[in-house]
Amino acid sequence: MNIGIIGAGNIGGTTARLFIDAGHEVAISNSRGPETLRDLITFLGPKARATTPSEAARFGEIVLLAIPLKDYTSLPADDLRSKIVIDAMNYYPSRDGHYPRLDSGETASSEIVAAHLPGARIVKAFNTIWSEHLKTKGSKAAPLDQRRVIFVSGDDAEAKRIVSKLIEDIGFGGYDLGSLHDSRNQQPDTAVYNKDVTVAEAREMV
Ligand SMILES: NC(=O)c1ccc[n+]([C@@H]2O[C@H](COP(=O)([O-])OP(=O)(O)OC[C@H]3O[C@@H](n4cnc5c(N)ncnc54)[C@H](OP(=O)(O)O)[C@@H]3O)[C@@H](O)[C@H]2O)c1
Repeated sequence: MNIGIIGAGNIGGTTARLFIDAGHEVAISNSRGPETLRDLITFLGPKARATTPSEAARFGEIVLLAIPLKDYTSLPADDLRSKIVIDAMNYYPSRDGHYPRLDSGETASSEIVAAHLPGARIVKAFNTIWSEHLKTKGSKAAPLDQRRVIFVSGDDAEAKRIVSKLIEDIGFGGYDLGSLHDSRNQQPDTAVYNKDVTVAEAREMV
């Protein structure tokens, strides 16, 4: 599968490595331009290319968003229309500034992102796991129930199924928490956030 990644830091770089190791092709981008990603591309190898956010969006059958939430309005909405989009971004007011609708809990951060990306098939995922755990905790040999969990939420059942399969490809197990509005339950400071638990343990928790 072709996967676009917007954001090439802890989460973007780590997911790129995992997706490539699982046999996928990756186009990865940042804000400063492809030429600044030379070292990362050398590390990732021939299944990776450095691009712009727009090109990453056009390249991907799935596109993963891994930038600070405060920059979401720069995301290339036209190029993301109809794409399966994984929103791995978290809301941290100390970094992102205050969004009253997020502070009140009435809206999920992914709903704000969705409003900027009409037609995108958004799945909230990869936001509850620390990048170091993403690097080290996957196990393709383990039975699904015993794998480290990655929570998913979204309104598009087929998109969630495809993202969950991608999660399994890289050695983790998906657990569906509901709609995009329900993704409020996997944001920072919720019970499941950054918890190092298996799929079976997640089932007990929620
Ligand atoms: N770190 C974690 O363990 C973790 C876990 C789960 C979720 N998250 C969430 O994932 C997101 C990324 O976190 P991170 O730790 O990976 O951040 P990071 O290491 O600081 O990397 C951020 C990346 O986003 C790029 N970027 C910033 N603004 C951009 C824009 N407008 N367009 C394109 N690229 C842009 C940066 O590129 P430049 O350097 O060129 O600006 C950089 O490559 C955040 O929302 C964070 O809350 C993080």
